[in-house]
Amino acid sequence: MTNLFSPTQLGDITLANRIVMAPMTRSRSPGGVPNALNAEYYAQRATAGLIITEGTAPAALGAGYPHIPALFDARHVAGWRAVADAVHAKGGRIVVQLMHTGRIAHEEVLGAAPVGASAIAAPGQIFTGTAMRDHSTPRALTGAQIEEVIAQYATAARLAREAGLDGVEIHGANGYLPNQFLAPNVNDRTDQWGGSIENRARFLLAATDAAVAAIGAGRVGVRLSPGNPFNDIADPDAPATYAHVMRELAKRNLAYLHVMNVQPGFDVPALVRTNYQGQVILNGGYDRARAEADLAAGIAAIAFGVPFIANPDLPARLASSLALAAPDKATFYGGDARGYTDYPAAA
Ligand SMILES: Cc1cc2nc3c(=O)[nH]c(=O)nc-3n(C[C@H](O)[C@H](O)[C@H](O)COP(=O)(O)O)c2cc1C
Repeated sequence: MTNLFSPTQLGDITLANRIVMAPMTRSRSPGGVPNALNAEYYAQRATAGLIITEGTAPAALGAGYPHIPALFDARHVAGWRAVADAVHAKGGRIVVQLMHTGRIAHEEVLGAAPVGASAIAAPGQIFTGTAMRDHSTPRALTGAQIEEVIAQYATAARLAREAGLDGVEIHGANGYLPNQFLAPNVNDRTDQWGGSIENRARFLLAATDAAVAAIGAGRVGVRLSPGNPFNDIADPDAPATYAHVMRELAKRNLAYLHVMNVQPGFDVPALVRTNYQGQVILNGGYDRARAEADLAAGIAAIAFGVPFIANPDLPARLASSLALAAPDKATFYGGDARGYTDYPAAA
């Protein structure tokens, strides 16, 4: 019987169960290089069927938040190799989420102005490591620069495999660079990268295709957040935009499509059912009962985010219907082992 504890196959990646750890930025990799503490954190959570790492910058200009990890040079590869080895030693599987933050950044963190689809600053503020500051106004990428960024996704995917990671997830959700291209309120380009839905979707699809060309479709997933306004995303025609994106992604035979099901009034399962034929991971506020119901309806796996922070042994706790520990929000981002690797497994 298919339930959360039955194995499944996502492209080339075999999962021992259908409980996926959702990507979560923890800002504990100073200098962008994954360290021993990060390896311990992920190894503690290796009983997930699949770990999707925190958002990881495929390029220096993609690292808009302080202390997030990166993946574009040999130091990053060495750091990620230790993480991958630690997870694999415990029998887990792990893909790295490639997150280019685009305009969600501050030049104090980047050392340069951020880049974006268009020169439209995000409202609101961002933490720079010392203070909250207004988001910097991005430079609109030129056509040639767009091609360079797309090539950076390919390089990051190749380096992920060099590090022994099982694959990559292209972060197309939550208002970061690919979502900035997708959204008409952030992208006012008049070239082939803006305007129509086809043009706005081109960057996400090209970044996906670049990763696929580098490491094979069976090791590439994509994350989307249809209808989610996070980071000032607004698309009056989101159902049509995401129907197009999903239909295009469906042609690519990817490992999986990972969709955030968080927007009230937005029927994500129906959108997926109508437009995407491959393996799907859903995420957003799930408990065991809701997860099992979605699996029964044909969803491949469910990603759990916050529950994994304070419950490193989440699959065992779900299996035994144990109470879940509550996380300390004050230690979500940055800091040390406290609120990170010091949550115990159930006795
Ligand atoms: C501390 C924290 C950091 C997050 N960082 C990321 C991230 O780097 N990439 C991403 O796609 N989503 C990120 N998210 C969103 C989670 O992946 C997930 O979608 C969200 O927490 C809802 O799922 P849940 O109800 O199971 O926690 C983050 C969430 C939290 C709480």
